[in-house]
Amino acid sequence: MKKIIYITIITIIIIIFLTIMFIKKDNNKAIINKPFSNYPFYKNELLNRYIDYQKINNTNVKDTIIRVNIGLDKPFYTNSKKVTNPDNFNVLVNKYHYLDKEFIPKDLVDTTKYSKGNIKLRKTVYDQFLKMADDAKKEDLNLRLISSYRSYDYQENLYNNYLRKDSQEAVDSYSARPGFSEHQTGLSIDIDNIYTNYNQFEITLEYKWMCNNAYKYGFILRYPKDKEKITGFQYESWHYRYVGIKIATYIYNHNITFDEYYYEFLDK
Ligand code: DAL
Ligand code: ZN
Repeated sequence: MKKIIYITIITIIIIIFLTIMFIKKDNNKAIINKPFSNYPFYKNELLNRYIDYQKINNTNVKDTIIRVNIGLDKPFYTNSKKVTNPDNFNVLVNKYHYLDKEFIPKDLVDTTKYSKGNIKLRKTVYDQFLKMADDAKKEDLNLRLISSYRSYDYQENLYNNYLRKDSQEAVDSYSARPGFSEHQTGLSIDIDNIYTNYNQFEITLEYKWMCNNAYKYGFILRYPKDKEKITGFQYESWHYRYVGIKIATYIYNHNITFDEYYYEFLDK
């Protein structure tokens, strides 16, 4: 008899203990859930991924949501989606968003002034680039296009040529795979100052000028220093992307990447 009472008491204690643990766990989830869901770009179906990402990376709530929305909790080039608005000035092309092999912008123009030659760019972007280069010239600074629109095939060749001399991991850090290059949108430009090799653009006065002025013409530095984990690419002081003046100004003022801007304001 005594034994039965003893077992019953132990069982009741265990049940009470498990119930308390269960309620506590649920409350914890509710506490975590609350600040996440306060943000308009929060996605309920990604909650567990937010929680896991934050645990590993110790990021604040806003950055956690945006980075997981970008897809950064999964390896680059996984879960990639095809771009549905390739003609839009605010299209996002990155390691999770690719362009159709056949996509060619409709309004490409030949660049003549401030161009190394045989370089095409979307008309609006070239017009804005010309205004920018004209204004830089007034301060005795040279901005010259060295690459802009690149077809899928061109990018494929470029990427495969790099693979001949570097490992895939190394190449992926500086060259986009075909379809995944922003250059295919006709909205990106690589520039130099004529005299200095483009990969040293960072040390030029023209770079300093671009840092302070590019946004006024709608351009952003697309792959900034210390943002490699977000953009997926090494810092490129020579690569600028046209996004329009409004978006460029916001990105300039808030020191964020276009990937982050997209998932804060443009993702639907
Ligand atoms: N170098 C840039 C990331 C590209 O290949 O598009
Ligand atoms: Zn580039």
